[in-house]
Amino acid sequence: MKCKLFLAITVVATSLGSLPKPLVAADDGAALYKSKCAGCHGAKGEGKPAVKAPALKGTALTTDQIAEHITKGEASSKAPHKKGIAGVSATQANAIAEFIKTLK
Ligand code: HEC
Repeated sequence: MKCKLFLAITVVATSLGSLPKPLVAADDGAALYKSKCAGCHGAKGEGKPAVKAPALKGTALTTDQIAEHITKGEASSKAPHKKGIAGVSATQANAIAEFIKTLK
C-alpha cells in the first residue's frame, strides 16, 4: 500500500516538474504590466498625474487597440508611446492588454 502511494506521488511530482514554467511567466500579463507599465500607469492602472500617464482601468479602448498602442505606438502620442515599447512581443502585448481590461 505505502509503496503504491509513494509511486503515485513520485509520478505526480515528476509531471509537475516538467511543466513549461518560463513560457507561462513570459506571457503573464499581470507580471509584465507590473514590470513594464506600472511605473507610469500605477499598480492598479489608476494613472499617475506626476508623469502625465492616464488611468488605464476601465479604459474604453479595446484589447487590440491597447496591444497596438504597446507594440506600435502612435506618432501623435507622447513618450514612451510615440514608438512601440522595446522588448515587448505581440503575444506579450496581448497578455498585458487582457490584464488591463480586468482592472476596475
Ligand atoms: C514612461 C512612462 C510610461 C510607461 C512606462 C508606459 N506608459 Fe502608457 N502612457 C504614458 C503617457 C505619458 C501616456 C499619455 C500619452 C499617450 O496617450 O500616449 C500614456 C498612454 C497610454 C495609453 C492610452 C490611454 C488612453 O486612454 O488614451 C495606453 C493604452 C497605455 N499608455 C498603455 C501602456 C502600457 C500597456 C504600458 C506597458 C507596456 C505603458 N503604457 C507604459 C506613459 C507611460
